[in-house]
Amino acid sequence: MNEAAMGYIGPQPAPISLDEFKSRQARLTAQLRPDDVLILCAAEESTHSNDVHYPYRTMSDMLYFAGWTEPEAVFTLRCVDGSWISSLFVQPKDTLKEIWEGRRPGIEGALADWAVDEAHSIDNLEQVLSSYVDHSRRVLLRTGVRSDIDDLIRAAIDRRDRSRQHFGSGPVSLEDPSARIAELRLRKSVSEVAQMRYASDVSSYAHIAAMRHSKPGRMEYQFQSTIEGFFVYAGTSGWAYPSIVGCGDNATVLHYKVNDDVCEDGEVILIDAGAEYRGYAADITRSWPINGKFTEPQKEIYQVVLDAQMAAIDCCRVGQPYTAPHEAARKVMAEGLIRLGVIDQSIEQALDPEEGDLRKWYMHNTSHWIGLDVHDVGIYKPNGEPRLLEEGMCLTVEPGLYFGAWRPDVECPERYANIGIRIEDDVLVTSGEPDVLTSACPKTIEEIEAITGKPF
Ligand code: GLY
Ligand code: MN
Ligand code: MN
Repeated sequence: MNEAAMGYIGPQPAPISLDEFKSRQARLTAQLRPDDVLILCAAEESTHSNDVHYPYRTMSDMLYFAGWTEPEAVFTLRCVDGSWISSLFVQPKDTLKEIWEGRRPGIEGALADWAVDEAHSIDNLEQVLSSYVDHSRRVLLRTGVRSDIDDLIRAAIDRRDRSRQHFGSGPVSLEDPSARIAELRLRKSVSEVAQMRYASDVSSYAHIAAMRHSKPGRMEYQFQSTIEGFFVYAGTSGWAYPSIVGCGDNATVLHYKVNDDVCEDGEVILIDAGAEYRGYAADITRSWPINGKFTEPQKEIYQVVLDAQMAAIDCCRVGQPYTAPHEAARKVMAEGLIRLGVIDQSIEQALDPEEGDLRKWYMHNTSHWIGLDVHDVGIYKPNGEPRLLEEGMCLTVEPGLYFGAWRPDVECPERYANIGIRIEDDVLVTSGEPDVLTSACPKTIEEIEAITGKPF
């Protein structure tokens, strides 16, 4: 099955080049002053029992500027005699540790194969970083990641008078660089899109494999294993976020995570699962009948959500506010539910954010940015106004309707009881048509019915 699915996926793309990492660094330093020092810390590893570690995934900003995935790393940018120098503090080579925990690139490896000018042992961090900081006027650091570094910077600022006397300089202020970095990360390069396309293709075929292996009586976790097993088989690092696999009324729980129920004949399954490849996320949701044939009520709701999603995708164009897809999806779903007799209000009333009945059945947003984080960085309303979409921005489009008959807060229409449908794709804004990165994943009723229950 995995091999058959792989036959549809192109080769893995070239990794992000060292030149691209350098140009990302340069785009940031172009905004800085020569007496700034920027410090990015990766979070430390943590254990869930004794010496069993949680899988380590570094901070996305570290991936963005250095592409360094090892734990316990610090990246800095500082200006010396008019030139910006990038430095990486890494775990040094240590044969005993490497025998137990795995090989390390070490300082030599970092210098040879990563886009940095200098590399140091993390064991010398305090001493070397202190000298950088003492020669700066402003430190750019997101606090709250590593308390030892926060303390070091605060102490340097507190003792500024003495330091100034020694060096004629010393930090006097601290700025969080996150917003500047988010602004850079928001627009994806060609090579970032190539990574996202691979993650999206793998995720699409993982969903197809799950559709093809559908049959009543399968457990939700068995679908999860089909999907996540394929993520790994295809060379991604696994899931970009924990997979949601909910059948029947479980599909009406937005962040369902136990995935331990049986999938019964006649139910719709909702799977929200995406792979991470070289740090970049895909995020796909599909919903399909477990037995391969939508019932009439399921079809009615499915088609409303699909129409809403298509209308929303059509809004992912340069110059549209990022809220346009949400507004378009809401309008189509409100019209659909009025037509189906679920909502007994005018369209204006149905769409009212406080009083409208649409929010009983559609209670989340339609889009979020996607990139190195599945819910990627980027301010949605700079200066209080919705951001206008630009070429290179990537966002999800994920409308849904959820008729949880178990909910005490609403009267669920009998005809649609326990139907939960969400359809989610990842869309790149281009100078032309919206580019649906996840378009390999089928979503029309006909396409889904044609493959569900039919193994490759
Ligand atoms: N998978 C999380 C989301 O769709 O936002
Ligand atoms: Mn999403
Ligand atoms: Mn999702």
